[in-house]
Amino acid sequence: MEKKITILPGDGIGPEVVASAVEVLQAIETRFGHKFELDYALIGGAAIDAENNPLPEETIAKCEASDAVLLGAVGGPKWDNNPSHLRPEKGLLQIRKHFDLFANLRPVAAIPSLLDASPLKREVAENVDLLIVRELTGGLYFGEPRVLTDEHAVDTLAYTRKEIERIVDTAFNLARVRRGKLCSVDKANVLDSSKLWRQIVEEKKAQYPDVEVEHNLVDSVAMKLITNPAHYDVVVTENMFGDILSDEASVITGSLGTLPSASMRSDNFGLYEPVHGSAPDIAGQEKANPAATILSAAMLLKYSFGLNEEAAEIERAVNAVFEKGLFTGDLAKTGSRVLSTSEWTKEVLAEI
Ligand code: NAI
Ligand code: MG
Repeated sequence: MEKKITILPGDGIGPEVVASAVEVLQAIETRFGHKFELDYALIGGAAIDAENNPLPEETIAKCEASDAVLLGAVGGPKWDNNPSHLRPEKGLLQIRKHFDLFANLRPVAAIPSLLDASPLKREVAENVDLLIVRELTGGLYFGEPRVLTDEHAVDTLAYTRKEIERIVDTAFNLARVRRGKLCSVDKANVLDSSKLWRQIVEEKKAQYPDVEVEHNLVDSVAMKLITNPAHYDVVVTENMFGDILSDEASVITGSLGTLPSASMRSDNFGLYEPVHGSAPDIAGQEKANPAATILSAAMLLKYSFGLNEEAAEIERAVNAVFEKGLFTGDLAKTGSRVLSTSEWTKEVLAEI
């Protein structure tokens, strides 16, 4: 298979973890006989420094000409006092909106050799395998009108039928190829946008008879996600609820350094990035855990290219390295050996 991938390293540890993921992609190319053409471009602080623009036209053009995008992370103290249009995070919001990446997928699965890193009891965390599907381009974060005066502030939670239908369809289709369970999260006892959301999920049920559906209110799900996370398979929800619940769910398995994500639209194009940020505190020191970005590259192969076997091979290799008790500093137990970013990456490459 021949495919084009735009690589956006970004800031802080972004370039380090992306370099690891690129090596893994190259190992997959060799082993499975594919050709991935990689094209590098600027985003975030790196783009502000070079072009005075967090998302230059040239970056958009390169992404448009490719089949998928792999991103590291953006941001850092250097740009913290910039005006809002010159903030690195602006580049990230703009790229999601420009490409209409409405479906944010965040899988959270227990890794047996990492269970000690979870703040939850082993028996609560050990069978967790869930996928949060967060609506990413609508809802409260994008609603109009917005008003802010000294006396009055307004944000609007608005959804159209079309916006809800496409995210709900995405979630049903994912549930279907997983364990066939869908939990739709809303606040239908209070919000009209949630009533429409729930009504559409009910209408759609008939099209997916193989999927078991439950509705949950966001406040009670916030509790159950921690007390009984293994209950959940696919969880679908609006933008802000998904933002909060996915951060909550990310602690179940214990480390930010292992969590990947995908942001998709209706075709197979997608943007893949680790859940963590640019970690300026450890940048440039070979301390970053590249697992989240390597696993994001696996999601890229699976969701954008349909290369399921190749994606599974990356996941297997990452887990095998953990099983051997080989960890970067964020996961290593006190007194045990700490691998650098490139040492840990070499272990994964050796597995593949
Ligand atoms: P962060 O996720 O960058 O770091 C939080 C903590 O986790 C730090 O102690 C960091 O060292 C550690 N950490 C994160 N990723 C790690 C990895 N792969 N391996 C080992 N340790 C890791 O979040 P923080 O500190 O709140 O934000 C730092 C910068 O990143 C800010 O400028 C923020 O705006 C930006 N950010 C960017 C995101 C993105 O590009 N998608 C997402 C979140 C934050
Ligand atoms: Mg968030």
